[in-house]
Amino acid sequence: MSKINRDLTDVLLTSQKKYYPSRKILKQAIVKDYEKILKETVSDPIKFWEEAARDVEWFREWDKVFDNSNKPFFKWFVGGKTNLAYNALDRHIKTKTRNKTAIIWEDETGRTRKYKYIEVYYEVNKIVNALRNNGIKKGDRVAIYMPNIPEIAFVMLACAKMGVMHSVVYAGFSANALADRIKDARAKILFTADGSFRRGKVINLKEIADEAVKKCRTIKKVVVVKNNKKKVNFNPKKDIWYKDFIKGQSCEAEAAPMDAEDPAFVLYTSGTTSKPKGVVHVHGGYQVGVLRTIKWVFDLHGNEIFWCTADPGWITGHSYIIYGPLLAGITTVMYEGVPDVPQPDRIYKIIQKYKINILYTAPTLIRALMRYGTKWPKKYKMSSLRILGSVGEPINPEAWKWYYTYIGKKRCPIMDTWWQTETGMNMITPLPAAPLKAGSACKPFPGIIADVVDKKGKSVLAGKGGYLVIRNQWPSMIRTIFNNPERYIKTYWSQIKGVYFTGDVAFRDKDGYFWIQGRADDVLKIAGHRIGTAEVESAFVSHPKVVEAGVIGVPDKIKGEVIKAFVILKEGVKATEELKKELKKQVRKTLGPIAVIKDIEFVDKLPKTRSGKIMRRVLKAKELGLPLGDTSSLV
Ligand code: WT7
Repeated sequence: MSKINRDLTDVLLTSQKKYYPSRKILKQAIVKDYEKILKETVSDPIKFWEEAARDVEWFREWDKVFDNSNKPFFKWFVGGKTNLAYNALDRHIKTKTRNKTAIIWEDETGRTRKYKYIEVYYEVNKIVNALRNNGIKKGDRVAIYMPNIPEIAFVMLACAKMGVMHSVVYAGFSANALADRIKDARAKILFTADGSFRRGKVINLKEIADEAVKKCRTIKKVVVVKNNKKKVNFNPKKDIWYKDFIKGQSCEAEAAPMDAEDPAFVLYTSGTTSKPKGVVHVHGGYQVGVLRTIKWVFDLHGNEIFWCTADPGWITGHSYIIYGPLLAGITTVMYEGVPDVPQPDRIYKIIQKYKINILYTAPTLIRALMRYGTKWPKKYKMSSLRILGSVGEPINPEAWKWYYTYIGKKRCPIMDTWWQTETGMNMITPLPAAPLKAGSACKPFPGIIADVVDKKGKSVLAGKGGYLVIRNQWPSMIRTIFNNPERYIKTYWSQIKGVYFTGDVAFRDKDGYFWIQGRADDVLKIAGHRIGTAEVESAFVSHPKVVEAGVIGVPDKIKGEVIKAFVILKEGVKATEELKKELKKQVRKTLGPIAVIKDIEFVDKLPKTRSGKIMRRVLKAKELGLPLGDTSSLV
């Protein structure tokens, strides 16, 4: 639990001030009476979600809204036929939306592109036809390792349109991490790009992709988007430029009618073992949850310019850069770059330039901007902004207030949205009409029943910490772990009987507001990215000089958490600064730059339980000078 975020008593004493929405915000809000809607929906969530399902088109209506006959393999909209990409795209082609801008893209160097809905539609259809001509069919998997460029959206939509599961791997992952994910999904084609700019430097994605593909026999073809003109290695037997791949293809293609429960995509996320989990989402329920939440949380009326600063490689990008905005028929903004190039006002400049109405970002970015001071945001009015969002980790009250004051200019309510890769959509979040508290994710979204419980599943009193669980089911929930249904049952439905186990700890205050404290398990949150301690440890141990490693998260002012590692070396190996550098490099190579190692300490022994598990809790308490807690099982 990262200590910069909150201390229970601190929060209870100091953060109880309420921020009320302005009259203007209230007047516009789709949901005007926050408490009333919560009360109404809590008694019959299934009815709420059935109504929400009417916001999308169905080729055939469902016979049954919700089926729990085979727990925990829940089903929604059983018998219904639909298609996620059809609803994000084809549906709009029949209306005025066809000529609206769907995607605005800008990169760090200042290049921009814009696509109307109809243009995205044509491009997606070409990819569908090219994939079909390459023998890719419904049920296959396609891997995507691309930067934040419009083509990543096109490829994802094309896959969904033809019933192929996409597996997007964040472009900050290493070749090994990419290879593991390709292998697990047995993907047949990989989409990538020559590279991406970052702080003026070219990240050579094709080179990383090549290294990964060498280890993956299932990949028959690598489709490469030209993004930065740098020369890359090209293997004519396997590689093809994206523009040649779609050349001459028809710009019309039918959407495959999918069963509501057919899988739409898999997205890997870290857990408590060294093997990432392939979270599976489906066509029917996912779109219902994503559309309803984006509309209500960000109060969409149809003509918004929406900027989610995440990367498409994470669930936030899937749900709120690509599918959500397109399902809602609004304009989504993609920015391929860092927030402080060429200057720390880049974010404000983009907001002003495109008249962005909704900004959805992460606490780590706010903290990075805070460091540059208020003089930067003060130069910009950002009067187009109406609603702000935060996601990825708890937002500390200081960052919340800064965001509210200097970016939102005290006009824009902040939606602190708690959710997960597995939940598919925002789960605990205010709505614009809700009174806010700086640092609280507020209350569950309508149709969601969340609780804070003890180990036995009993609700705990207000002010007491416990496990955050969800008591009901919802349409956009995870359906299984790809190729590993047992792990799905074990991870989410076995820890506490009868409820969905989130892995987070939280408490509620006397008003019923939720305060999320962090992970209860051995998962770190580095700049809002999930990374398992077991994965990092296994990366250390893969070095020939290392016997064992235990890693913990330590607080970091900007990233929330960074890694500290305790490493046992093989006998006779000298503990040097050089070796520390080498080990850092090793982890980076195995996992990618998201695994930020702050410090390595060489030790002779790690605290362990009798059964031999490393007690990271003890390492952490010692590191942070906290009480050791219960060490009775320590040997
Ligand atoms: C974990 C899920 C889903 C979006 C991005 C991360 C933490 C997420 C919040 C928030 C406090 C949050 C939780 C959760 N988290 N949003 N608003 N307040 N914590 O997705 O990688 O699946 O991580 O992120 O610990 O379990 P993810």
